[in-house]
Amino acid sequence: MSGDALRRLSGRLGGIAYGGDYNPEQWPREVWDEDVRLMREAGVNLVTVNVFSWAFLEPRPGEYEFGLLDEIMDLLHAGGIAVDLATATASPPPWFSLRYPEALPVTADGTRLRHGSRQTFCPSSPAYAEAAGRLVERLAERYGDHPALALWHVHNEWGNHNAHCFCDTSAQAFRDWLRARYGDLDGLNEAWGTAFWSQRYGDWAEVLPPRATAAVANPTQRLDHWRFSSDALLALHRREAAILRRLSPGVPLTTNLLVTLEKKVDGFSFARECDFVSVDQYLTAADPEAHIGLSLDADLARGLGGGAPWLLMEHSTSAVNWQPRNVAKTPGQMRRNSLAHVARGADGVLFFQWRQSKAGAEKWHSAMLPHGGTDTKTWREVTGLGRDLAALAEVRGSRVAADVALLFDWNAWWALEMDATPSRDVRYLDLVRGWYEALWSLGITCDLVHPGSDLSGRRLVLVPPGLCLTTDADAASLAAFVRDGGHAAVGFFSGVADENDQVRLGGYPGAYRELLGVRTDEFFPLREAETVRLSDGSPATVWTERVEPRGAETVLSFAADPASGGPVAGHPAVTRHAFGEGTAWYVATRPDADGLRRLLGRVCRVAGVAAAAEVPAGVEAVRRHGPEATYLFLINHTARDASVPASGVDLLSGAAVDGRAAVPAGDVMVIREHRPGGSTAAG
Ligand code: GAL
Repeated sequence: MSGDALRRLSGRLGGIAYGGDYNPEQWPREVWDEDVRLMREAGVNLVTVNVFSWAFLEPRPGEYEFGLLDEIMDLLHAGGIAVDLATATASPPPWFSLRYPEALPVTADGTRLRHGSRQTFCPSSPAYAEAAGRLVERLAERYGDHPALALWHVHNEWGNHNAHCFCDTSAQAFRDWLRARYGDLDGLNEAWGTAFWSQRYGDWAEVLPPRATAAVANPTQRLDHWRFSSDALLALHRREAAILRRLSPGVPLTTNLLVTLEKKVDGFSFARECDFVSVDQYLTAADPEAHIGLSLDADLARGLGGGAPWLLMEHSTSAVNWQPRNVAKTPGQMRRNSLAHVARGADGVLFFQWRQSKAGAEKWHSAMLPHGGTDTKTWREVTGLGRDLAALAEVRGSRVAADVALLFDWNAWWALEMDATPSRDVRYLDLVRGWYEALWSLGITCDLVHPGSDLSGRRLVLVPPGLCLTTDADAASLAAFVRDGGHAAVGFFSGVADENDQVRLGGYPGAYRELLGVRTDEFFPLREAETVRLSDGSPATVWTERVEPRGAETVLSFAADPASGGPVAGHPAVTRHAFGEGTAWYVATRPDADGLRRLLGRVCRVAGVAAAAEVPAGVEAVRRHGPEATYLFLINHTARDASVPASGVDLLSGAAVDGRAAVPAGDVMVIREHRPGGSTAAG
């Protein structure tokens, strides 16, 4: 992966990519001309077609019909709209499941799923791999050098619905995967700890995926099944990618990752197999601060690509249809959402989908062109966003530079949320979000990165609570970073186990004990809704533990009085350890939002990390750095006008900003900043 492929794509488009999923097969032919005319009116320059077209392309086994797609490709090309062409493998047609019933996925309790929705196939099925491969070959041969083709869209959201299959084919593939990982059964028995509960395997045929069982399943068996399942999908991705690279060389490819929407596939491993990262992001309607979750996903998208610009493949213009209550976006919210993605490194903003469906499972999902047509709030905002993005053309290719890295790991996420852990309140995303939110509200930008990534060049590395699995190498890399003068803060229940989810002995937090200069001998998770007080009076929930300093100094304790200090009253809650040239903090509880913001604010100050700009609460500030200029994005999520120190030119309005930017309530500014020796003239 390199930044070049996306740079070439946005170069071809002449700016930031703008568009969405386009599903013309759902509409009569006469609608298509109107589609292209309206796309042009909205400033759309890239659409994703063919995502769910397999049944049209191959109506009967082995009989391919490309007339419809030929026409769509030619029409879009004539209209000056580039195409992100999907490989259409995400929804095999009904004939497929009748012909290959063994290729249908089976759930842990033995239910075989049937067609009638989408993505209903077993990831380890040879019949699926072959049928999908044949289709991709035909598509690549036919459209590989079509002038409309700008990008290949491999599959769609790998594993969204079908990541885990428990059928016999999957069982055999799981065994093969385990053999490759452990070599022999002794290795597997050791890694899975099968001495426990008489689970020792004497023959490979005895090894199963973790099908429904009577009591708590072996956690390492389950963890390996998550890993295997992600790898099985990755193998399918590689298979498609290899065909496309062979038959359509030079055309970049990507696949839309789910970031935090679903935890089923390891985003880092997929990102490595793409020419650039693309992601889908949807707001959680129940979350009053869903824009912070958006930022987290965007910073993860950037982290997946090593800091390079990325593409927002899907988000929504307004409500989705798959949450319990699908709240519509308020006026201006879509614009803020879209531009927040651009602020955090997106060089393209696409939606699901172009024209709102009138039939099918997603007819109540918003789109760029709603049921009500062009005389709608959404359409007016869509055309407005097109103008905004055109005004930001020069921003493409510039990069967000973050002094802070926040470690994020799918393996830890999988392991943490198994059964039989110290507390069901220790939920990975929840904890990551808590730490992320503290940083967000301080105006500090971070990259979410893999624990094994290169940490040099950062000032501060955050390990939010719950990074329970840690390899020796990753722990050593964090220690070396601090020893060389870096700063780190580590949250509870991190480093406690190795990569096989086996506990690191000798006291918690295992892999980080020496770095943090502490040792914990027992955890004291709190009861539901139980609150304890820290020595500064601030409340904390979820977790406490008995920390014994072994070289670290105590920064905050649990209050001395057991009535408010909880089960470990008077013991350290936050510690700080001078390690080599740097400092490592340990946070052994979950402070409330204010307490965490104060604490991480202090950690940032000590580490010399500064905000992108001094902003009032609820105003987002992020900076992108280009070769000629820097761009300060200011997004006001509040109902109050805000004033932020800045100078330059607001690219969205063309207005000069001299000393202070006045950002109206709900509005966005993108300021090309004065740089010493640089120019800020409006272009
Ligand atoms: C995505 C998917 C789209 C559409 C969208 C609705 O998960 O890729 O096809 O279903 O969600 O929000």
